[in-house]
Amino acid sequence: MCGIVGYVGPRPSTDILLSGLARLEYRGYDSAGIAVIDDAGELGMRKRAGKLGILREDLARAPISDGTTGIGHTRWATHGGPTDGNAHPHLADEGKLAVIHNGIIENFAALKAELVSEGYDFVSETDTEVAAVLLGREYRANGADLEAAFRATVSRLDGAFTLLALHREHPGLVVGARRNSPLVIGLGEGENFLGSDVAAFVEHTRSALAIGQDQIVAITPGGVRVTDFDGDPVEVEPFEVTWDATAAEKGGWSSFMAKEVSEEPEAVANTIRGRISDGAVAIPELDGLDDLFRDIDRILVIACGTAAYAGQVGKYALEQWARVPVDVELAHEFRYRDPVLSPRTLVVSISQSGETMDTLMAVKYASERGARTLSICNTQGATIPRESDAIVYTHAGPEVAVASTKAFVAQITALYLLALHIGSVRGELTAVESAQHVRELEAIPAKIQRILDREQEHTTQLAHWMADTRSVLFLGRHVGFPIALEGALKLKEISYIHAEGFAAGELKHGPIALIEPGQPVFVIVPSPRESSQLHDKVVSNIQEIRARGARVIVVAEEGDAAVLPFADEVLRIPLAGPLFEPLLAVVPLHIFAMGLATAKGLDVDQPRNLAKSVTVE
Ligand code: M6R
Repeated sequence: MCGIVGYVGPRPSTDILLSGLARLEYRGYDSAGIAVIDDAGELGMRKRAGKLGILREDLARAPISDGTTGIGHTRWATHGGPTDGNAHPHLADEGKLAVIHNGIIENFAALKAELVSEGYDFVSETDTEVAAVLLGREYRANGADLEAAFRATVSRLDGAFTLLALHREHPGLVVGARRNSPLVIGLGEGENFLGSDVAAFVEHTRSALAIGQDQIVAITPGGVRVTDFDGDPVEVEPFEVTWDATAAEKGGWSSFMAKEVSEEPEAVANTIRGRISDGAVAIPELDGLDDLFRDIDRILVIACGTAAYAGQVGKYALEQWARVPVDVELAHEFRYRDPVLSPRTLVVSISQSGETMDTLMAVKYASERGARTLSICNTQGATIPRESDAIVYTHAGPEVAVASTKAFVAQITALYLLALHIGSVRGELTAVESAQHVRELEAIPAKIQRILDREQEHTTQLAHWMADTRSVLFLGRHVGFPIALEGALKLKEISYIHAEGFAAGELKHGPIALIEPGQPVFVIVPSPRESSQLHDKVVSNIQEIRARGARVIVVAEEGDAAVLPFADEVLRIPLAGPLFEPLLAVVPLHIFAMGLATAKGLDVDQPRNLAKSVTVE
């Protein structure tokens, strides 16, 4: 949840740390701080509650003495509220040592009691300060050897952590460690970096190393040493970051969310690119796995939040095209109920960040119990793909706004490609059927673009009219149901309005009691061209709520005239096959949520209480 950056090299580090933190601020933004060893060997530290801008202003008013070794942190509070005192870095060893941390140290209370009994004082409520004080003690006990002290410290910690530390007696050295929490190395010329993700240093270098679980890294201007927690050297995987710094910048848009919604067509197109050959799906990352796909008897999709809704959409395609039974489960529920798993179960995890702790733990749990695992992920070098047997990357580009938008459509796209691939391998789809679905999928980016071009203004206007609304309901059926859930989540998340999504058929089993005059209800209407008659059933649902005074906003296919007599507003989407409608119907819902939050004057990129990457359980 927190963002971490470290730097050693020839350049003054304060600006490098602050610009790294600006790119990581999506990970947490309730306080920020930096610590720097200056050229005279003194340790300077500044930290402030509130967004990074407050720390920046403070440093501009009263700079700390700059130097070429530094660490920086942006926080999402776990232990202790968002105050100056609880912000990171935390100091120890009489102010000579600074530590920053992401994660939760589960045994912090026992360690704190031990240290208090030895006479150590604490000034914050955080678990991080316990790690700092412990490191200070170990530093003295290990003859002022920072790396040895670090090894001794991390071996005492339970839970999830990325820790970085520096000591004024060791200018030009930053040490870091990770367990179940992200940390990557950026390799520069005569300088090196550490970051929670590559965004921390991508403006300086695109050469990166992914650190594994339970490993320690020491960076100096001239080199990088990675060991395990026992101090034995380990090989680390190099990778090249495929996007540049501009991809993670606003580039003239009013918000990252606005930019990312505008990139939805590209996110779908880029996820398809390179995976179609002669009209058939060919996913190079899955070469050699045909036997596995033939052998599985069940697919279990695990994910959280928006990624789980993508999974729910994917279930329809996987079952229809690959004819494999699919269950979709929230990752945080999955491993606490003794699930039935076997080597014939394929567990497909979906995560934009690749770091969501609940999903990571569920993947590990499934692997330990013999299931095969496949990760759908948007972030190179992230932990979940590295813990999985196979990976299909979504190529949505960096997603910075907390509300996931372009990653959602990319996740559905990746699931559809996977479903077509498994369906073909298992002989459930003919080449002709597969080619037809591929053509439909390839047409989606242009159709999303048409919605952005034609409906954005109307949808945003509608959102502005509804700025005072206190509650919004969303109804959908079949693949429209997860889209209703996604529409509601997006609205809650960024506009703080009560919103709920329902399966339209469930309405009469309870939720219809919520309808009172004026209640806004979005209804995602299936195509009238479908043979299932779902369209007519949903139109009946609309009449039922209309009769009770609901204000109905329908998302309906272009040309669907049957909805007109019952709709207060109509948001149009282009024609598409039934399984492809979700990729279109979600777009006006993303625009609406963004428009409403903007109309309320809220920060759409950094909504309260949330963080982009949820790396605690
Ligand atoms: O990084 P992940 O895809 O694993 O994140 C999962 C959820 O935390 C995420 O989708 C969350 O629900 C979004 N903020 C919703 O917009």
